[in-house]
Amino acid sequence: MSILNLERTAEALVADGKGILAADETPATLTKRFDVLKITSTPDTRRTFREMLFTTPDAPAFISGIIMQDETIRQKDAAGTPLASLLARQGITPGIKVDTGAKRLAGSPAESITEGLDGLRDRLKEYHQMGARFAKWRAVIHITNEIPSVASLRANAHALARYAALCQEEGVVPIVEPEVLMDGSHSIERCEVVTGSMVQATIDALFEQRVCLEGMLLKPNMIIAGDQCPKQSTAQEVALATLRCFRRHVPAAIPGIVFLSGGQDPLTATTHLNEINKLNGPKPWKLNFSFGRALQDEALQAWNGKHNNLEAGQRAFSHRCRCVNAAALGIYTNAMEGELAA
Ligand code: 13P
Repeated sequence: MSILNLERTAEALVADGKGILAADETPATLTKRFDVLKITSTPDTRRTFREMLFTTPDAPAFISGIIMQDETIRQKDAAGTPLASLLARQGITPGIKVDTGAKRLAGSPAESITEGLDGLRDRLKEYHQMGARFAKWRAVIHITNEIPSVASLRANAHALARYAALCQEEGVVPIVEPEVLMDGSHSIERCEVVTGSMVQATIDALFEQRVCLEGMLLKPNMIIAGDQCPKQSTAQEVALATLRCFRRHVPAAIPGIVFLSGGQDPLTATTHLNEINKLNGPKPWKLNFSFGRALQDEALQAWNGKHNNLEAGQRAFSHRCRCVNAAALGIYTNAMEGELAA
């Protein structure tokens, strides 16, 4: 794939307020989410849940791409159609998570480094053959007063850039995800400083590895106080800090910033995205979404593992997609939340 094709794919993923569903939880992580609702987790129930989301009738109006996990991209629907083809047929671009998880960083037990570079070129070739046109790699940065260390920022930024360069060589658009966690009692100001440092380290590493910024997307956290911080911010404060941080550190060549939800509830994540997009002033990239939990939680609860609830699950998913799409255009209103009940 040429650079031009990578650019076109990246731009299409963030066009018209459409965004990305991150449905790439590993079987172990999805099992934890199922356990909370006492849903039995098997390859088949996980496929049923994903197929419910992937076939939601109006989802393609709001969702441009879906990130799958290795198990899912190898699964087929009842008619024998691979789930990746099911997506492509509806105009949704299939994506794939390619990192192999965050492991303990040697020499710094409270920090992590994401692994998965070994053999990545061959895995990308296989996923491309299976229909994947974009990929995801998540770096995890923990915050306390003492960390992150420079070692963890640099090591994770380097791995993200190596991954991104390999993706582009194989014709796959990389989503570069440096996630600063919201777990902890840190202030919004500390989140801004740490996120700025990590994003800057990532941009530097991308430049060093000759990654074409036009053919990738950045997937960061929003700038918010830690979940245990006694002083929580208003949506307006979150929006101002978020836009300021990314204006300072993200080159205009990157077509889109697609935020993760990071544990924010669906309503909060939607409101924050909307406030960010409502702000005036230069915004050289699309400010969009690649939510996991904030897009899926309500649908998972509505479905609750029961065949009879499949339609209710799709209604809940479609409702959240509609709201988040509006937020990416800065035209979401709280009144939209009542439309599902109506
Ligand atoms: P959340 O929106 O649940 O944070 O998931 C996004 C994601 O892809 C995390 O890697």
